[in-house]
Parts: sequence; structure tokens; C-alpha cells
Amino acid sequence: MRRLFSVALLAVWAPIAVASELSDTRKAELRHMVLHDCGSCHGMTMKGGLGSALRPVDLEGTDADSLAYIILNGVPGKPMPAWRALINEDEAKWIAEALTKGLIK
Ligand code: HEC
Repeated sequence: MRRLFSVALLAVWAPIAVASELSDTRKAELRHMVLHDCGSCHGMTMKGGLGSALRPVDLEGTDADSLAYIILNGVPGKPMPAWRALINEDEAKWIAEALTKGLIK
């Protein structure tokens, strides 16, 4: 009985424990979203289009937190939409870091 209880407890806590470390599946989904949805404005290779270029060389010196903020909230008065409804802060931060490191291409 006691053992069953700890198993149940684990099941409840597990999703919270992994919240800040994204699964490989979620990373693949985000990568796909960036290439297709973000790529429609920023270019499929992030070289820019309607939206600015987002290659590591373009983002040099920009910190990932401010990029994540823009991704979550958009740029008021500009075509850059807010993505808050689709992704959470950890995911926006992951995208920002992946872009600065050139992990999405
Ligand atoms: C409808 C077009 C559009 C889409 C879709 C779009 N963006 Fe943007 N984005 C823009 C524009 C335009 C700007 C430049 C805003 C400005 O002039 O400040 C921008 C700016 C940015 C910036 C700031 C760049 C910098 O150098 O400061 C980041 C980061 C960014 N977008 C990431 C994304 C990501 C990630 C996605 C997908 C989740 C996305 N964008 C989807 C149009 C778009």
C-alpha cells in the first residue's frame, strides 16, 4: 500500500520536475514551428524577409532573455506577433538560445 502511494506521488510530481527541461519531442516540434511559422516572415533559413534576420551572426550581442521576451510578447506596432498563446516561457527561452547558437536551420 505504501509503495503504491509513492508511485502515485511520483506520477503527480514528474511533469513539474521536467517543466524546465524540454523533451526531445517538444524541441522537434518547436524547431518545426520556427522553420515554418517564423520562417514565413524571417525566411526559411532565418536570413530575414518581412522579419529581421535571426542567424547567430545577426543576433550577436543580443541576450537570449530579450529575444525570448519579444517572441512571447511580439513587437507592438510591427508585424511580429506574440506567441504567448502557443508556447511558454521555457520554450521561448529555448527558441531564443537555439537561434543564437544556430541550432535551428
Ligand atoms: C507576420 C510576420 C512574423 C512572424 C510570423 C514572426 N515574426 Fe518575428 N519579427 C517580425 C518582424 C517584422 C520583426 C521586426 C520587428 C521590429 O522591427 O522591431 C520581428 C522580430 C523578431 C525578433 C527580434 C529580432 C531582433 O534582432 O531584435 C525575434 C527574436 C523574432 N522576431 C522571433 C520570431 C520567432 C521565434 C517567430 C516564430 C515563433 C517569429 N518571430 C514569427 C515578423 C514576424
